[in-house]
Amino acid sequence: MNKHHTIFCVFLLFGSVFISLCVSAEIAEPAGFRNGIVVTDSDIASDIGLRILQKGGTAVDAAVAVAFALAVVFPQAGNIGGGGFMLVRNHNGDVTAIDYRETAPSGARNNMYLDTAGNVKEKMSEKGALAAGVPGTVAGLHLAWKKHGTLPWKELLMPAIQLADKGFPVNKELADDLSEYRDDLSEYSSTAKIFFDSSQNTLKEGSLLVQKELAQTLSLIAEKGPDAFYKGTIAKKLTAAMKKDGGIITMADLKNYKPITRNALSFGYKDYKIYSMGLPSSGGILLYIILKTLEEEPLAEYEHNSPAYIHLLVEIFKRAYAERAQHLGDPAFYEVPLEQLLSNDFINTIRKVINKEKPTPSDEIAPTQFNNKEKLHTTHFSIVDKHGNAVANTYTLNDTFGSSYIAGDTGILMNNEMDDFSIKPGHPNMYGLIGSAANAIEPGKRMLSSMTPTIIEKNGVLYAVLGSPGGSRIITSVLQVTLNLIEFRMPVSKAVSVPRFHHQWLPDILYLEESFDTGIVTALKDMAYSIENKRIGCVNAVIYDSERKMYYGASDPRKMGKTSGY
Ligand code: DON
Repeated sequence: MNKHHTIFCVFLLFGSVFISLCVSAEIAEPAGFRNGIVVTDSDIASDIGLRILQKGGTAVDAAVAVAFALAVVFPQAGNIGGGGFMLVRNHNGDVTAIDYRETAPSGARNNMYLDTAGNVKEKMSEKGALAAGVPGTVAGLHLAWKKHGTLPWKELLMPAIQLADKGFPVNKELADDLSEYRDDLSEYSSTAKIFFDSSQNTLKEGSLLVQKELAQTLSLIAEKGPDAFYKGTIAKKLTAAMKKDGGIITMADLKNYKPITRNALSFGYKDYKIYSMGLPSSGGILLYIILKTLEEEPLAEYEHNSPAYIHLLVEIFKRAYAERAQHLGDPAFYEVPLEQLLSNDFINTIRKVINKEKPTPSDEIAPTQFNNKEKLHTTHFSIVDKHGNAVANTYTLNDTFGSSYIAGDTGILMNNEMDDFSIKPGHPNMYGLIGSAANAIEPGKRMLSSMTPTIIEKNGVLYAVLGSPGGSRIITSVLQVTLNLIEFRMPVSKAVSVPRFHHQWLPDILYLEESFDTGIVTALKDMAYSIENKRIGCVNAVIYDSERKMYYGASDPRKMGKTSGY
């Protein structure tokens, strides 16, 4: 047995012990931290965030350092070529949301991914330069830092610059993802030269990933701030490369990009107050619809993850996702019937129509007609500092490694967020989601998202910080972990690790994680559900125990993340 086999067997052994621990009812709560906590998808990034907190930086300082570090060590989703949403809860209880979602370039058109016969040109919205929206990450992080940061901007980028410049050992998850995406990544020589070795294989676990060009780009951002990215040297290089490779992002698009400070979408649920992301994310609205519909159900009397519990939630998921497809899009471009969707009447209507006995087929469910005009990687991290300031940040390139396209010699892996638009009415996107005019492509418009960074208070005190990747499955992942915590009183590690399920109206398929008991799967099949296996989300969460005055974190065992604290 060679060294790799030994490592693999040890991994399997510990992995299976870990997984069985995770699904057992006896999951022990992890050690708590009194001062500050960072939960991310990367051990390297979590430790960088922790060092910033220990130096006296705020949760937002740590978030900025973590986000730049993830752009280097977790290129599947960590990024400067993408976008996202950050929720910040100040220790005084004020919550704001920073929307740094990508926008459609000025040259984007509604039919840009269709041929002359009106058929979708496969992959055009998914891979390569044309799939990218105007990136928001650098501007968003800078805005967050200007409002809530205390340490020097440059200092926050230093760990990322060093990691890019000197390199770091590729972990198993990155090696596996690079190998899975090999064909896409190999399409672009600018990408292949970074992630492939001299024999044209993707980098293996343990090899050093050095990204000199990204280090240079990050150094410019550290020295000159976001102007370097949106107006200066980086903007020039990026747009020139994109033009050569068939992209349409211009200097003016970059110069005009603006992150937006928004109100978080907030609502009460029993003793709790939930803050989540409103439009242009659908996450907060769907969380609202689902939780409000459930609020009068005695949920704690249901057996967790029993067929009856799954069926009840799925009946609501189907209705909520049907409304998403029809009505949700960037509110700056489309009149979303928000008042109706958030009204008690609407919630009561859903309560009345759900069928508790058997599944309502999706083709019998249609979005409400209001009287109106018309695999995968993202990454979430949760951070709390010693003052009690909290950050829930979800950002993404959309698909794993985004468009697979690195723009020239900038080292910047570009997003493929244009696929989150409805590129043709009724045509399913990468996550099987369909859309309509509400989410059609228009220049400058933000594509509808499912990202759901969420902060929960209990009786006015910070209670939980959470979020997830998973495309359309983000919302149902955040929802289930929220219910696991609030209704089923699970310790946070169990709340994130127990199996999850998902339904999104169309396709009419109930997705279950593999670890569900066969008895439950059989019972659901007997109810006439069509079932498929899928991994659902990856929740990185923090909870605060106000009696013990301690923070507890859980990085989802579905990935290789870490909780760091002090
Ligand atoms: O904004 C969205 O909803 C998607 N771009 C998120 C993509 C995602 O979560 C991929 N990761 N698993």
